[in-house]
Amino acid sequence: MPPLENDIVNLEGVWVAYSGSDRPAMRNINLRVSAGKLTLITGPNGAGKTTLLETCLGLLKPYRGRAYLFGVDTRSWRIREARKMCSFVPQDFIKPPFEAYTVRRIIQLGFAPYKSIFESLTEKENERIQWVSELLGIEDLLDRPIGTLSGGQQQRVVIARALSRKPRALFLDEPFSSLDREGRKLVSKVVSEYVRKKDAAAIIVSHDVNPIIKYADTIVRMDNGKIISGDCYA
Ligand SMILES: Nc1ncnc2c1ncn2[C@@H]1O[C@H](COP(=O)(O)OP(=O)(O)OP(=O)(O)O)[C@@H](O)[C@H]1O
Ligand SMILES: [Mg+2]
Repeated sequence: MPPLENDIVNLEGVWVAYSGSDRPAMRNINLRVSAGKLTLITGPNGAGKTTLLETCLGLLKPYRGRAYLFGVDTRSWRIREARKMCSFVPQDFIKPPFEAYTVRRIIQLGFAPYKSIFESLTEKENERIQWVSELLGIEDLLDRPIGTLSGGQQQRVVIARALSRKPRALFLDEPFSSLDREGRKLVSKVVSEYVRKKDAAAIIVSHDVNPIIKYADTIVRMDNGKIISGDCYA
């Protein structure tokens, strides 16, 4: 089926393999995500969740089937344009202790598609940094070097950066992994409200469904490289 106007992600019979591996990491995946929806992808370690997220973004290419992001085939050079409308928080977000960029600077890097980091911040951008830091409860951390923060604090910062770009699609890989109970509740609420208010899409990978399940429009369960249940047409 060709991608629909409203589709943010559309995967059609997608197979993905890592180079050097003799078996596909993802087999015959169909997934459709539209604006205003929160999709939760869950499953055990090694199920293919990260592979799925990276395939949606065009970071991994299918060797069979078709993957579209905002209607753009991920194999096309135009995928870079489509990706500018997305924010991605990868699974490995922790910065080393010697990483000296402040939290403010890290969030500023979220504006990177639109401006150089050497340009000074406009008033509007400062307001945006204030807005996301209040949302994620990190106002007091703005001038701290990122490497000196705890894992959970860093996780809040990378999620704040992802939101600060005001993306039309948000891709979060295990965003609760280092968060405490309060942090999980907060992030779930903030992301789901963002999706509703901005008519954006969120695709959240989490092996633990508890923090987010009540906000999910669609739950996709994966195992062994396949979708084993879920309404794949969110
Ligand atoms: N770079 C790689 N090279 C080769 N195989 C890989 C690579 N990355 C992942 N795989 C394999 O692909 C499969 C899916 O991995 P993936 O990282 O997508 O799982 P996951 O569901 O995200 O797991 P986790 O919950 O541990 O993050 C696994 O069998 C894994 O061993
Ligand atoms: Mg993973």
